[in-house]
Formats: sequence, structure tokens, C-alpha cells
Amino acid sequence: MKPLHKVIIEKNCSFNPIWIMRQAGRYLPEFREIRKKNPNFINLCLNYDLSSEITLQPLKRFNLDAAIIFSDILMLPYGLGQKVEFEKNFGPKLGELDLNKISKIDEVDFVEKIHPIYKAIKKVSLDPSLDNKNIIGFVGAPWTLLVYMINQQSPKKKLKENFFKDEYLINRILLIIEKFLKFHIKNQIDNGANVIQIFDSWAGLLEEKDLPNYVYTPTLNLVNYIKSLKIPVICFPREIKNYKEFCDIVKPDAISIDYNVDPKKILKDVQIPIQGGLDPKILLSDYKNLKKEASKYLDIFKDHPYIFNLGHGILPETNPEMVENLIKIVKNY
Ligand code: CP3
Repeated sequence: MKPLHKVIIEKNCSFNPIWIMRQAGRYLPEFREIRKKNPNFINLCLNYDLSSEITLQPLKRFNLDAAIIFSDILMLPYGLGQKVEFEKNFGPKLGELDLNKISKIDEVDFVEKIHPIYKAIKKVSLDPSLDNKNIIGFVGAPWTLLVYMINQQSPKKKLKENFFKDEYLINRILLIIEKFLKFHIKNQIDNGANVIQIFDSWAGLLEEKDLPNYVYTPTLNLVNYIKSLKIPVICFPREIKNYKEFCDIVKPDAISIDYNVDPKKILKDVQIPIQGGLDPKILLSDYKNLKKEASKYLDIFKDHPYIFNLGHGILPETNPEMVENLIKIVKNY
């Protein structure tokens, strides 16, 4: 059995597999090298020779237990025909959302636009170095994708005042997102992804009363779909206040926690395997502090199925040596 499956399916507590959110990214000089020659991020994601190479870069360097495919959650709106660009020092910039246009897209159009992602997964899954590792496919949660598609950029701290103005539009788009996310998930699994993570980066922006409609129900639909395909699903509803309620309702196979979550509290609150938590900023400090902070999580979760990870993506200014250190700390625990 693959390392993440041992924890998620068998509930094995005797070891802690490790992978790192954004492990294929800008803190690696070999990534920056490729990125420099490929200024268009979307095109890079769609170049399956390069995206599979980038996916494998961190695994060549480090003893990680899983590969996460180099792509982006915003490939979904891109596949639906919405303009998506990444501007340096700004982040994603999306074009105007045209409901009429995206209503006419079918699965064939969608797959035609983004199929190199699936080819990259296939290629990675055939790499013998991954025989004993997991391959993580991923999607953005419907809510987080809705935020980007309507807001057309990262919302930072809060949503535009008139975000919920057109409820008809929002609910139509949510249904379209959900439908295409299912295609996207199925294609990733058919090409070799054996775990799916759902990133809900902006779940924390919602008031409690809006969670059922925009987070719980659409995510539950996806979780049930992924379970029906017999693949474990990890949810990462970043910065929500009530992880227990989320787990009770959505019932993912594992829950990824952000660095604001109190690990002792979540241990009491949920029964399912837990992932993540460590503040990525700790990797910018020194070895001693890293050991202390990483050990805190390992100690607290020593009798609970636990996958080591960060509480958010690794920061671009991280020294790769600190990643090496972290992996050794976790493996030698
Ligand atoms: O290694 C991995 O984790 C796999 C690849 C991956 C990327 N994005 C590559 C990427 C994954 C899993 C994502 C998820 C993603 N993308 C999320 C959810 C997680 C989170 O960060 O909250 C979100 C919200 C996005 C949207 C997105 N993509 C933003 C906001 C940005 C700009 C901010 C940033 O970090 O630069 C991106 C760009 C992006 N996606 C980069 C990478 C490696 C940086 C691209 C570059 O400039 O080189």
C-alpha cells in the first residue's frame, strides 16, 4: 500500500508520510530556471513534458512520499473559456465571466483545452521512481473557484461588497463548476492520480450562515463523487472556524489544517486522519526552531493517523536545505 493510503485507509499511526503544499515551485532553483524561460504560467501548466518534469523536481531532491501534479486550480475556469493570466507580483487575473459562453461548453471542449494536464499525470504515474509513492490530483473547491471567477482576482481579505448581488448567476455558475470539476477529477484519476485534494482557500471568507450553501453542500457532492470512484479525498477548507462541523457534514477521508488551527483541539474534535498545520514561516527560521515546531505536531498526533505537511503553501523564499531538514526530522521521529 502507498504511504498516504496506509494513513488514510488503514489508519496506520506508526509513521508519518510527508509531502508539502506547493512542493513544486519557486523555492527550487531548478523550477525558477524553467519558469524564467516560460513566462506564461498557463502555457507552462499545459506543456506536459515540462509540467511532469517540474512535478518530479522535488522528488528528485527529497525523500517525499507523494507527488502533487504541477498545475493550478484556475485551470478549471481556463478550461471553461474564461481568460486566466498570472501577472508577476499580482497573482491571477481573470477575464470577465460570460455565463452564456460557459453554459455552452461541453466536456469535449473542456478536455480539449486542458488535456495536457492528464498527459502529465500519466507520464508521472509511469515514472518508476514513484512506484512506492502517491500521486495527488487536486481541484479548487467550487466556492474558491466561484470567488476567482466572479472576483476576477484574489480577494485578499474580503469579498467585493456586491459579490452576492446576483444570486441566480452565482448558483448557475456553482452548478457548472461542480459539473466540470467532476470531469476534471475523473480524468485525473483515470490517468493515475490516487489521492485527490480539494483546496478551499477562501472558505474562511464566508459568514457561518453561508457555509452550508456555498461550502458544505457543493464540497459534499464532490467528496461523494470521489468516494464513488474508490479514491481517498483530502479537504483543505482554509481558515474556517469550525473544522469539526465541516468534517461531520462533508465527511472527507482526511482533513488538512491551516496553521491557525490548534492541533490539540482538532485532535479532540475529529476522528478522521489529519494532515498539515506547520506554519510555512517556520521554514524561514533555524534548524533548532524547526525541530521544536515540527516535533510539536508529531508529538500531538503520535497516536492519530497523521500526514505531515504545512498549514499553507511553502514560501518562495524558503531555503531548500530547510526542506531537507524538515523531511529528516519527520522521517527520524
Ligand atoms: O506543488 C504544488 O502544490 C502543485 C501545484 C499547485 C499550484 N497551485 C502551482 C502554482 C497547486 C496545488 C496550486 C493550488 C492553488 N492555486 C491554490 C490553492 C492553494 C492556495 O495557495 O491557497 C490557489 C488559491 C491557486 C491560485 C493561484 N495560483 C494563485 C493565487 C497564484 C499566485 C500566488 C503565488 O503563489 O504566486 C498562483 C500561481 C501558482 N500556482 C504558482 C505555482 C507554482 C506560482 C507561479 C509562478 O509565478 O511561478
